[in-house]
Amino acid sequence: MKKCLDHPVFRVISDIVTRRDVSAYVIGGFVRDCILGRDHSIQDIDILIVGKGIEIAREVASSLIPKPKVSIFKRFGTAMFRYGDMEIDFVGARKESYSPDSRKPAVEEGTLEDDQRRRDFTVNAMAISLKRESYGAFIDPFNGLKDLQDRILRTPLDPDVTFSDDPLRMMRAIRFATELDFQLSTEVEEGIRKNRDRISIVSMERITTELNKIMMADTPSRGFLLMDKTGLLAIILPEVYTLKGVETREGKSHKDVFLHTLQVLDNISRKSDNLWLRWAALLHDIAKPATKKFMPDHGWTFHGHEFLGSRMVPRIFRNLKLPLHERTNYVSKLVALHLRPIALVTEQITDSALRRLIFDAGDDLEDLMTLCEADITSRNPGKVRKHLNNFKFVRLKLKEIEDKDAIRNFQPPVSGEEIMKIFGIPPSKTVGIIKEAIKDAILDGKIHNSREEALRLMYKLGEEIGLKPADQK
Ligand code: CTP
Repeated sequence: MKKCLDHPVFRVISDIVTRRDVSAYVIGGFVRDCILGRDHSIQDIDILIVGKGIEIAREVASSLIPKPKVSIFKRFGTAMFRYGDMEIDFVGARKESYSPDSRKPAVEEGTLEDDQRRRDFTVNAMAISLKRESYGAFIDPFNGLKDLQDRILRTPLDPDVTFSDDPLRMMRAIRFATELDFQLSTEVEEGIRKNRDRISIVSMERITTELNKIMMADTPSRGFLLMDKTGLLAIILPEVYTLKGVETREGKSHKDVFLHTLQVLDNISRKSDNLWLRWAALLHDIAKPATKKFMPDHGWTFHGHEFLGSRMVPRIFRNLKLPLHERTNYVSKLVALHLRPIALVTEQITDSALRRLIFDAGDDLEDLMTLCEADITSRNPGKVRKHLNNFKFVRLKLKEIEDKDAIRNFQPPVSGEEIMKIFGIPPSKTVGIIKEAIKDAILDGKIHNSREEALRLMYKLGEEIGLKPADQK
């Protein structure tokens, strides 16, 4: 395990703890990821000290060049500093006991094994010794290495105790299983199912942090299927849970919107690392259950699900304590527009419809097209190819119009103030009507996106409704 200790900082820690005759270990995610060969831009290193961690952290920091600033959390007996691309935490080995209504444990000093036992998963409880006489020794009392090789998540203690002590670990279990492509052991799965309601004592922000990590995994569907299987999905994201199921009437079934959504989410995750675009994929059909109707002639319809869905986004984000404002607007907008490019293909590609789409999507047009392509989930490869080709054509046409008309981030060539000034009228509905008519004329291709043509149309419209330019009055 010495390969995990090749950074010189470990030697510095080793010298100090050896001189002080204190046992110290690297433990947790750093050991796990080192064995797995996972790379991180910032290395999070947890150093476990059997005794007081703060003193050691201070001494290590003052031996480093440049000397990092140590942050001390007295209440928890922990300290940390940043050093290059590493964030190094020092914690004293602990024994903990939890009360049933809180995630905050009563803490007392403990041995290395006490500390390993109270950790979440066996693969996160492996330790490597730093003291000189045992430098590099691997201490793994719960067989984390075997579980790592078998790609399985188990808890050192009975999962019922581990999850009841700290229910956030249920989300962590699913997040690790998703990120690392590990299985949950049967006991872990059962433990989550049994303790699922205790997730309510965890703050929404912490749950959402895990949820976002699940969203950012290579194949996020794995996490959603596990959340569903263990009963957490219905608690955390009831709107997504409601997408589940298939109804059949008069021999006609609709597809399972939950499974379709997960496919769209996985598809988009192969194309983009934009978390919010992934959220748009998760929520694009969120209003299908609420708008579902069976029409004897047409079968199942979901009229207006894109608009209702787009209005549901802010509430869902608020409940999850996700950042509102521009993130919500972006996701809402993509949900609202997600059928527009498809409509372009199935109806007729007119320049006017293309211009309107460019105008409505603005800078998010590329993301919208990516979402629409991800939304093709037919099992028939011929159909998928056909739809993708159609979208290729739409992209081409969009580009042509864009190059020609500069509609993206369209600014009206005549402003409301100018209209008021030219006709000598106060702010009123009339100003809005004239402005809107100019915009429509440009988008419909009746006039060019130029100031000259817009002014000409403005005078004509004014005349039609009996307005005279102020300088001719
Ligand atoms: N840990 C725990 N229970 C928690 C959080 C953390 O037992 N609810 C322990 C685990 O041993 C974990 C270590 O504390 O490995 C460090 O936690 P953290 O930095 O949050 O997670 P990592 O395992 O390092 O993984 P990641 O960086 O991917 O979050």
